[in-house]
Formats: sequence, C-alpha cells, structure tokens
Amino acid sequence: MPQQTSDRPVLDVDLFSEASLRDPYEDYKAIRDAGPAVWLPGLSVYAIGRFADVQRALRAPEQLVSGQGNGFSDVWNAGRGMNVLQMDGRPHSRLRNTIMRPLSPAKLREARQDLKQLVVKRVQSLLGGDSFNAMLSLAAFLPVEAVSHLVGLPEIGRERMLAWAAATFNLIGPDPHADDLAVSAEARAFMSSLSADSVRAGSWAGELFAAVDTGRLTQTEVLQAISAYVIPSLDTTILAKGHLLHDLAANPGQWAALRQNPGKIPAAVLESARRNSVLRFFSRVAMEDYDVSGVTIPKGARVMILYACANRDERRYPDPDLYDIDRDQRDLLAWGTGPHMCAGMNLAKLEMEVLLEALVEADAELVAGTPTMGLNRGLYGYADLPFQIRRAARGVPA
Ligand code: HEM
Repeated sequence: MPQQTSDRPVLDVDLFSEASLRDPYEDYKAIRDAGPAVWLPGLSVYAIGRFADVQRALRAPEQLVSGQGNGFSDVWNAGRGMNVLQMDGRPHSRLRNTIMRPLSPAKLREARQDLKQLVVKRVQSLLGGDSFNAMLSLAAFLPVEAVSHLVGLPEIGRERMLAWAAATFNLIGPDPHADDLAVSAEARAFMSSLSADSVRAGSWAGELFAAVDTGRLTQTEVLQAISAYVIPSLDTTILAKGHLLHDLAANPGQWAALRQNPGKIPAAVLESARRNSVLRFFSRVAMEDYDVSGVTIPKGARVMILYACANRDERRYPDPDLYDIDRDQRDLLAWGTGPHMCAGMNLAKLEMEVLLEALVEADAELVAGTPTMGLNRGLYGYADLPFQIRRAARGVPA
C-alpha cells in the first residue's frame, strides 16, 4: 500500500529485486496507481510511470537533465558528458547528429534489401525443422551478422559485442557486479584501441574516422559515436524480437490476421514494442522544482522515467496487457520521445519488419514454448525462447 507523506505518494517496491526484474508489471501498476510521481525510498528516487507524465517529462530536457547521469550506479553515471545518452544541450545535439547520419530512413532503405535477404535465408533454414532457441538462432541473427558488418568492427569486436552490451546495461542498477565491471572495461578498452586502419573502409565507423582526417570530427567524438552504435543497438533489438515472436505465437488470431494483411506488419512491430518495452527506464535529475500533475519533485532529486510502465498505462491504452495489432499505438514510448529519443529506432523497426516479412512470406505457423526471462537490470527480455517455425497447411492461414 502506498504511504502518503505531506504531498507525495510513497511506495516500497524494489524494481531491482529478482522477482521484479522477472515480472515488473505488478510493481508498475502499483506505481501508476499510487500517483503521478511516487517516491521510492529504497532507491531514493521519484518514479514517473503514467503515460502522459512520462511523455511530458521526456520532453522537458532543460528541467530534467540527462547530463548528471541517467542510471543508478556511479560506474554507469561516470559516462556523463561522454556518451550521448548522458549529455545535454548543444554538445548532445552535435554528437547525436553525427550518430544519426547512417541511421536516417533514407540511408537505411539502402541496407533493407541485404538485411531482408539474410533473414529470408535464415528463416528458410529453420522452416519445418525442430524446436530451437529463438533468442540465439533468430533474434540475435541480424544484429550479430549484419549490424556488426555495417558498423565495420574488426572480428574480435564482433565476437564480444553481445557480452559487452549485456554487461554494460546491467551496470545501470545500484551495486554493480564485479564481472559486469570487468566485461564493460574490456569493451571500453576495445573502443579506445580502434583506428581508421582497424575498421572496414566505407562502414559507419570507417566514415567517422574519415571525418577526423577532414577535421570535421575529433578522435574522441568518433569513439563516442562508435560506442553508441555498439552498446545500445544489440540486446535491445534482440530482446525486442524475442517479444515480437512470442507475442505473435501466443496470439494465433493476430498472426493469421497479419498473414492475410501483411500491410499491418509495421503496426505488429509497434504493438509488441509497446506491450513489452525492452528498455525498462532511464533517469534524469531535476534542475528546478518540477511539477508532475500536482506532485512536486524538488530541485536536485533523481527521477526514474519508466517507459515500459507508461506503455501499459490503462489511462492511455484500453486493455493495455492485450497484444492487439489494430490499436493505435503510434505514440508509444518504447523508444522514448524528445531530444534523446532512440537514435536507432528506424534500424530496430527495420530489423523487426524484415523478420516478419520473411515469416509471412514463408507461410509459416509459429509455435512458442515457455520462455526463460533474463535478469538484466536495464533491459527486459528473454534469455531463452523455445520456438518452432512450422509449414502451414498450403494456402490456409492458421
Ligand atoms: C528495440 C530496440 C531499441 C529500443 C527499445 C531502444 C530504446 C531506447 C530508448 C528508450 C532511448 C531513450 C533514452 C532516453 O530517453 O534518455 C534510446 C536512446 C538511444 N538509442 Fe535506442 N533502442 C533500441 C535500439 C537501438 C539501436 C538499434 C541503436 C543503434 C543503432 C540505438 C541507439 C541509441 C542511442 C545512440 C540512444 C541515445 C540517443 C540520445 O541520447 O540522443 N538504439 N533507445
């Protein structure tokens, strides 16, 4: 039960407990029901979890800043002022513009065909076969095979990318684990060792290093941009694909509707990203007293912004737990909104769309077993998803 102090709701939940990491949705509902901004004493933060308040907070970058750290550990927040997620104002927009260059819809259209072909081949190789772990064999496939190629990292970087991304996101919570610290340090050492000679010419990283030669970027900016391609781009999209596959397999009526009308593929992707938002939260610090629908967050307080909680707010989405490709969820907050809105959103959507296109074109039936939840503190998704792609009876959608 929330306890009421003078004017702020208080709730004793631990969003980093194993139970909550596994299934945070009861805690999210309790936070939404307790009030527009809720003091969590265990973490000493104000949590914002209702859709309209999260949307407004993300669009208030001068009052709620990212540049004082956006995580809950010193080691994560040590990246403030250095990685794009934890910068404000002009330095942020300058670095962000550099990062966005290969990620615009126009640029990604060029990569679409190649990504599609790769995933079609992979789906064909799995079609009609035994059950497999979809997280490894299907969800991780495009980021590891294709995105690493687009970024242009040397071989050793590709092999370690997944481990680096998982460990780094795990560091966002309090009391970081020693093994995650070691793996994340390895990632930083690798990034710092990169040079124009060690990356693929013409790749995203290659283009960045070329901009150093012409004086457009500094070496530091290049390494900051490469980290922004490697760390937040992998586990996020992998886990999101796991949710997408599970949502469709668990809702055969929706899958049948999609096979009959593939024009709904983009909506199916958005609906899964809404229902099972991979990024649990980031935080901000209030630069002045900040009003959240009548609750005042005092200047200097840390604020936890719960994307996944907002996307299941019954005040915004009727029956929010339901996977429904016909609802209008285009304002979803899975990729955030405002100046820090995900730089890789178009790539993430593209990867998920080509995966569904390949499955629809294969005329497949999707069968999911019981998934095992991963326990990453920053990201919500499966470690393991038993899955089968069966050949559908000819011409008859399931
Ligand atoms: C389903 C997959 C993904 C999800 C759910 C996701 C989610 C998010 C969210 C919620 C933010 C907002 C951070 C904030 O409000 O402070 C963000 C930022 C960011 N994301 Fe993603 N992301 C995904 C995929 C990607 C990919 C594929 C890339 C890179 C290719 C990427 C790169 C970034 C970067 C660089 C930022 C920081 C942008 C800034 O601070 O201006 N993300 N992401």
